[in-house]
Amino acid sequence: MRVWVPLDAAARALGADEVADTLAREFTVTRNGTRGMIWLEPLVEVERDGVRYGYGPVTPEDAASVAEAIRNDGEHPLALGAVEELPWMKAQTRLTFARVGVIDPLSVSEYQAHGGLVGLSRAIEIGPERIVEDVTQSGLRGRGGAGFPTGIKWKTVAGAKAPRKYIVCNADEGDSGSFADRMLMEGDPLTLIEGMAIAGIAVGAAQGYVYIRSEYPDAIRLMEAAIGKARQAGILGQSVLGSHHTYDMEVRIGAGAYVCGEETSLLNSLEGKRGVVRAKPPIPALEGFLGRPTVVNNVISLASVPWIMSHGAEEYAKLGIGRSKGTIPIQLAGNVKYGGLFEAAFGMSLEQIVNEIGGGTASGRPVKAAQVGGPLGSYIPHWNFDVPFGYEELAGKEGLLGHAGITVFDDTADMLKLARFAMEFCAVESCGKCTPCRIGSIRGVETIDRIATGDEEGIAILTDLCNTMKWGSLCALGGFAPFPVMSALTHFPDDFSGRREPRKEAAE
Ligand SMILES: Cc1cc2nc3c(=O)[nH]c(=O)nc-3n(C[C@H](O)[C@H](O)[C@H](O)COP(=O)(O)O)c2cc1C
Ligand code: SF4
Repeated sequence: MRVWVPLDAAARALGADEVADTLAREFTVTRNGTRGMIWLEPLVEVERDGVRYGYGPVTPEDAASVAEAIRNDGEHPLALGAVEELPWMKAQTRLTFARVGVIDPLSVSEYQAHGGLVGLSRAIEIGPERIVEDVTQSGLRGRGGAGFPTGIKWKTVAGAKAPRKYIVCNADEGDSGSFADRMLMEGDPLTLIEGMAIAGIAVGAAQGYVYIRSEYPDAIRLMEAAIGKARQAGILGQSVLGSHHTYDMEVRIGAGAYVCGEETSLLNSLEGKRGVVRAKPPIPALEGFLGRPTVVNNVISLASVPWIMSHGAEEYAKLGIGRSKGTIPIQLAGNVKYGGLFEAAFGMSLEQIVNEIGGGTASGRPVKAAQVGGPLGSYIPHWNFDVPFGYEELAGKEGLLGHAGITVFDDTADMLKLARFAMEFCAVESCGKCTPCRIGSIRGVETIDRIATGDEEGIAILTDLCNTMKWGSLCALGGFAPFPVMSALTHFPDDFSGRREPRKEAAE
């Protein structure tokens, strides 16, 4: 009998290691990634006749009684039934995350048994031009935030003439409420490796780097171990899967500055320089790492490619709405009852996501707003929750899809405090290269403090300042910080009126 206990950082933080130790005294325990149902972690699974049954959340104190229930096939208050049949699992379209939580993340044979390497084999068969064409046809857009078409980026790098080219995976994942990159790297790192190898073949790059922030020690460890396994299995190295293509990669660790997620700043950091944003042009696709043509893609963008290669661009493009094709791993966090990762085709409404999938707030109070797309994303008020989840659809509501992280707030949220937090975040994380962001964000905090004391003139100044930052900043850190601020001000003017105590601390 096989027993599964997640090794994901969230499950470990909730006692998964202790649970695994107890169960390992009696059973063969395999560590898997998380299924994404964080409220059920640690989620213990037992496989019987090919079906996996769950128990959760299993605290270290519950482990012995769960072991007894598993041993005797008996009842247990934490028994959940077949995991795949749970409503949260059944409602998803898991393509990129199909293997996450299912397989041992470091087993190449299990990876292959669950469809791994089919995409890479096909990519080798069809060759660089067709790969780029298929990725373009799939409609895949960058999942890191800007939503730029991946196929076009790859075409630019493929067409550039240079003695060396590089693939850089952006695993900096600094957005609040975002954890999809981490979960993928911890739960199914070989998918990212496969995606990066396909990218390498497509553009003619023989070397890749995964830039992971130091706050992700588990992801770093698992990625490094998986790269070792991939080398042993001939997925990486001189001859990728026995072909004439050479591709290898390594992990690089970032110190954890938010701005190092911005692609040019990341490249500086990767070169050992200070993480300061570079002016564009030149774009990284032409002059990136060490001045060479470089694909810089997010983890999920790259990890989506093996599925596209193995199932076909049309199958992927069939899913979604408008120009938002395929699936998106939605990350639900904040004050939400069922927080976690939910992969679905684009197009669900925010209402469905927050209130049906997420079950509303954890506090049980009414939802006030949700911030979509990380710390630079707009606050969408609950009366605009009919907006479909898609790049253009959210932009139509002055919103941003970003990395698809959603942070939920109930009616006790103080929007002035949250607006102040956004400005302070920008001030703290600014790389300092341009004035609107470096100075503007500090003036922004001061102006919000003025408004908090009842100085109504501050509102016009704040609006003006936000416009200057929006149009005058060199990168999206300063350029997008006005979005949370202005959305809070526009939709919740009451929170900005009247005399209030000056707020010295940022929102927690
Ligand atoms: C301040 C700032 C932080 C960013 N952080 C990330 C990040 O953590 N991860 C990421 O993939 N992209 C991040 N981006 C977007 C990247 O600059 C870039 O667009 C992305 O890595 C390109 O990959 P994609 O096309 O696959 O999305 C950030 C951008 C800005 C302006
Ligand atoms: S907007 Fe901010 S982070 Fe971006 S380049 Fe300017 S100072 Fe640096």
